[in-house]
Amino acid sequence: MKKVKVSAPGKLMLFGEHAVIYDRPCIVTAVNHRISTEVEILDKEKIIINAPEVKINNYQKEISDLSSDSDLSKGVRFVETAIRNFFNKYKVSSGLKIQTKSEFSSQFGFGSSSAVTVGTLKALSILLDIRMSKRDLFDLAYKTVLDVQGVGSGFDIAAGIWGGTLYFVTGGKEITPLKSKELPLVVGYTGIKAETAPLVRQVAQLRESNPESINEIFDLIEKITNNAVDLFKKDKLDFGKLGELMNINQGLLDSLGVNTIELSRLIYAARNSGAFGAKLSGAGGGDCMIALALGKQKDEVERSIKKSGGKIISIKNNTQGVRKENINESNR
Ligand code: MEV
Repeated sequence: MKKVKVSAPGKLMLFGEHAVIYDRPCIVTAVNHRISTEVEILDKEKIIINAPEVKINNYQKEISDLSSDSDLSKGVRFVETAIRNFFNKYKVSSGLKIQTKSEFSSQFGFGSSSAVTVGTLKALSILLDIRMSKRDLFDLAYKTVLDVQGVGSGFDIAAGIWGGTLYFVTGGKEITPLKSKELPLVVGYTGIKAETAPLVRQVAQLRESNPESINEIFDLIEKITNNAVDLFKKDKLDFGKLGELMNINQGLLDSLGVNTIELSRLIYAARNSGAFGAKLSGAGGGDCMIALALGKQKDEVERSIKKSGGKIISIKNNTQGVRKENINESNR
């Protein structure tokens, strides 16, 4: 039976988290930790999913029973909802066997749900011969994420599709690739898994009780993000200035209440050992921080992050978006 394998990258937020939920921009970069999704056409009216990294083995569902609103594990919900949305939009249907494989732990906020959603939809478009532009893919993947988790700006989906480093505004109102090379980033993991949705709700509550101040903080985050974009447009990226902007962004995130002592420890360790700048990356509440550092300084920064209890996650950034890995047809 016809089978295709695609892969999509994870992401790291560089600037603008949380504010990007409220019609502000962010900057996101795709990372080389990828999730592959292999989809095979079946000749029975069934969906079979295997996603070992989220402990899904031989999960089966009749096509007529596809849904988003069950309390299934995350891995299955995104894949299942993506398939349902694809079938509904393009008025097609087929039995399918899906196998996902991740190069990174779903513990990290690298965007495994968005990468698997993008991968599933891209694979379906290839298998079922439906032309989808990047924008079509974004719209359907974003709808899928909102159907499943209710909140999210869609920046992670854009990174999964376009790759590289992007300027992104809420819901994909603007998606512009930035001229960028790989950034000399160090990623430190606090060891604390953090869920995005509760942190987004927490910031929403803070905004409800302090609308003016919080909106002004979002305005400042927008300014910082736009200042960073200006730096990316220059022929030579000024790391000193970019680091300074990261530090300011971190202060603003702290004022939104999403920083933690563990993140702070790693961020100060990085700054004190010579990083140009350091901040949390993503929703906060734990998870990862990033620091900008070059050459010998980078080794120093890594050492002191480890000494402060962090785990270094080695990544490349500014990497390729979703891509076909292979396709084959057989008559089994
Ligand atoms: C989470 O990585 C970043 C947030 O801005 C959520 C989102 O944009 O979907 C907190």
